[in-house]
Amino acid sequence: MQVPLAIGLVLAGSACGGGTPRSHAPLVLREVPITELRSVGDFAGITDSTARSQALFGEASRVLLHPRCINCHPAGDVPHQGMQLQLHDPPVVRGADNRGVAGMQCASCHQDRNQPMTRVPGAPNWHLAPIEMAWVGRSAGAICDQLKDPKRNGGKTLAQIVEHSAHDELVAWGWQPGADREPAPGTQQQFGALVAAWVETGAACPDNPQESR
Ligand code: HEC
Ligand code: HEC
Repeated sequence: MQVPLAIGLVLAGSACGGGTPRSHAPLVLREVPITELRSVGDFAGITDSTARSQALFGEASRVLLHPRCINCHPAGDVPHQGMQLQLHDPPVVRGADNRGVAGMQCASCHQDRNQPMTRVPGAPNWHLAPIEMAWVGRSAGAICDQLKDPKRNGGKTLAQIVEHSAHDELVAWGWQPGADREPAPGTQQQFGALVAAWVETGAACPDNPQESR
């Protein structure tokens, strides 16, 4: 049986710059099944802290870009669903408070837990991420910039982003999605640790040629 593998990240050894001599050999990260995350320790071999930070975010972005997450972080007014990011069926819109409109409130269908009989996913306070937190169609680098920008992250400090990633209940749902939905890779605990390590290494963002700001 073939196990699909997460893209083996190949990182160029940081060749430029003066100071301490560094290996020029590319560092190849351990391959992991697509359902798993690399742990923080897998990145210890990257001596340059900016490069390590970027690589840690790259790993965390395997969660951020997973359909379980971006379906609720759409770039428009309609949630997505499924693995192919189809528009939400039945048709619903975010409304002024990201909780739907009268007669079609998110909470009229989505409860505080998954409903096995009807397939309706649920978690406490189910509602859409505000439009400034739109991730669909964006690169990991662009999402990284957004996460650091208080105007686009709900006014959060980096410490609050770490806390949200590690403990928020809507984030947690990504690993308990119910029905036959594919969970986000790894565990929320691992994801929280990657985000924390990204912040500790300076919260550097992956290069983002198209949308750099
Ligand atoms: C009329 C009932 C109804 C309303 C109202 C509703 N939903 Fe849903 N929603 C569903 C059902 C049913 C599914 C599951 C579809 C399936 O997987 O078969 C779903 C799935 C989803 C998913 C997809 C999960 C995934 O990753 O596949 C998201 C995200 C979502 N809804 C968000 C919302 C938001 C946000 C609102 C309010 C703006 C909302 N929904 C309003 C019934 C509803
Ligand atoms: C049911 C909808 C929903 C799902 C599913 C969801 N989110 Fe969110 N997300 C939100 C809402 C709403 C906010 C805004 C909350 C706030 O500001 O306190 C948010 C905010 C965030 C933030 C904070 C700041 C920012 O800039 O966006 C992060 C980080 C985040 N989500 C990560 C995730 C991850 C990772 C997953 C998947 C494992 C996920 N979310 C799944 C609705 C969702």
